[in-house]
Amino acid sequence: MPDIEIGREGRVQTIRFNRPEKKNAITRAMYREMADALNEANDDDDVAATLIMGTAGIFTSGNDLADFMAVAAGGEQANDVHDYLQAMANAKKPFIAAVDGLAVGVGTTTLMHCDLVYASPQAWFQTPFLDLGLVPEAGSSLIASRIMGHQMAYELLVLGERWTAERAERAGLINTIVDAGKLEAHAMEQAQRLAAKPPQALALSHGLMRNGPEEIVERIRHEGQMFADRLKSDEARAAFMAFMNRKRA
Ligand code: COA
Repeated sequence: MPDIEIGREGRVQTIRFNRPEKKNAITRAMYREMADALNEANDDDDVAATLIMGTAGIFTSGNDLADFMAVAAGGEQANDVHDYLQAMANAKKPFIAAVDGLAVGVGTTTLMHCDLVYASPQAWFQTPFLDLGLVPEAGSSLIASRIMGHQMAYELLVLGERWTAERAERAGLINTIVDAGKLEAHAMEQAQRLAAKPPQALALSHGLMRNGPEEIVERIRHEGQMFADRLKSDEARAAFMAFMNRKRA
């Protein structure tokens, strides 16, 4: 089975993380597929919306830490990640998420690019960027405050607090909490409702609500440079080694 499943239900494109044995950690190849799917949807009249999902109890544990270490070692470029983040910022079609269980790092910041987010009562959200010696990414240093205000965004992104679904709902990160058994069906129903809207009116309204991607695109670029430098820092290297060695202690 592929680590990312791209599918279609009517005019709704689906993206599913499917690497549960690694808590759906996202590798560079997975970022590439997601970036391509989002970009191709922009120009495909048969796609009206994209729904992103994980597996039972796992949305995603974020960037694959082994991939981070490879970048930190200097041999790799992080272009696939960057392309995925820019594809989200530039998405012309509605982007919907169904989150069951853990959503860590880019698993949480991805939601800040979504137009509708549904989560199960078991969902939890955390961005441990600072504890990994890193900085917030995906434009989150700009977008999160807009969604939830500075103090809440700071608690999530800088303090790295682990949020329950209730807390995320109060903060405005998610729309509604839906029982796990009904979560994907509900998210799909909402996506299909959007897909049934008059396409031109939807495209125009989506553009108005997103208010132009330029500022976010620029922030992703700026964060990305800082992030790439931080990956090579002693703080980050020590944190990655601690994760890799944690089961040996
Ligand atoms: N990158 C690479 N591998 C990861 C991973 C990640 N982000 N998250 C989990 N995994 C792997 C683990 O190494 C483990 O692999 P193994 O069985 O070969 O040892 C497997 O997935 C299961 O993870 P495990 O840690 O045993 O599950 P858990 O339920 O105890 O904890 C998490 C789950 C998500 C809390 C924990 O795995 C974690 O903290 N992961 C790192 C999250 C992170 O820092 N992401 C980057 C954010 S910027």
